[in-house]
Amino acid sequence: ILPNNVTIIEVGPRDGLQNEKKHVNENDKLAFIEALQGAGIQEMELTSFVSPKWVPQMADAKTIVEKSKKVGRQFVLAPNDKGAELAIEAGATSIAVFVGVSNTFNKKNINRTTAESIDALQPVFAKLKINDVFIRACISTAFYCPYEGKIEIEDVVALCKRFVAMGANELSVADTIGKANPRESYELFKTLKEEFPDVLLTAHFHDTRKMAIANIFAALQAGINRFDTSAGGLGGCPFAPGATGNVATEDVVNMLDTLGIETGVDVKKVCQAVQVIAPHVSRPIDTGMYRLFEND
Ligand code: HMG
Ligand code: MG
Repeated sequence: ILPNNVTIIEVGPRDGLQNEKKHVNENDKLAFIEALQGAGIQEMELTSFVSPKWVPQMADAKTIVEKSKKVGRQFVLAPNDKGAELAIEAGATSIAVFVGVSNTFNKKNINRTTAESIDALQPVFAKLKINDVFIRACISTAFYCPYEGKIEIEDVVALCKRFVAMGANELSVADTIGKANPRESYELFKTLKEEFPDVLLTAHFHDTRKMAIANIFAALQAGINRFDTSAGGLGGCPFAPGATGNVATEDVVNMLDTLGIETGVDVKKVCQAVQVIAPHVSRPIDTGMYRLFEND
């Protein structure tokens, strides 16, 4: 049985742009965000409070948070205490932390082992809770790691348990390098649904091997009704070699529309938002629905 409603969490302004080498002007980012809000997006990752030395594209995080219209739930990423402080200062009320199941990936991404990250995040969670911040925990390399290979379900569950015990409101579980297949998607998400019935569970698929849509259908069958997607299929983590874009918002919403599943998001308006950002990104946009829109 499939859900009647699905929530789309748009990650284009963050995951979509973080890997762009040429700086995207903050006004162009803000126009993209506003167009996405106009398409009906109610939850979005706006930006990241990370080291500008590591991810120069996100150096304008403060301005993006301050100048974007407040619509629905707006996330910013924070890897550590400093990021969380800066995010709260800028007025963020929903913060996403991110940790990899794989130690090697975590070291490359945030310069700490997974265990070190959790230890460092304990006081950060306490502070976020005091400030009444909604906490999303992004779990990277939940299926495969570019350095360590296959990841075991038990290890994903164990990491999720730590975050839930610390007070995470949501788990966003990611196929960072787009390598999972639909059976693996079903199995992991079914297990997580059983383990964490009271936590918001979200699936985050990259589309490297063009299996993301199939993986989303499998996750729907496992009872997941929240998906991270990126308009135009932009995206990828700079520290995960081989990771390409996220699954495209317009293609996912189209599939859900045809299945009769409500998202509140308008495919055509998402394509118009893609048109806003397309001239400012380095790769050509080649998603199914955007191609149809452009040829229309
Ligand atoms: P580090 O070098 O170990 O940091 O990096 P440090 O604590 O030693 O500090 C070094 C310098 O950075 C200091 O400045 C700090 O103040 C500064 P200095 O004294 O040298 O001038 N610093 C910061 N500046 C701004 N914001 C901060 C911050 N923290 C320290 N928050 C660090 C550790 C975590 C900072 C670094 O590794 C980092 O920023 N990593 C971010 C990597 C990233 O953004 N990756 C992409 C997002 S995750 C992703 O895409 C996956 C996801 O989509 C799910 C999936 O698909 O898997 C979510
Ligand atoms: Mg990602």
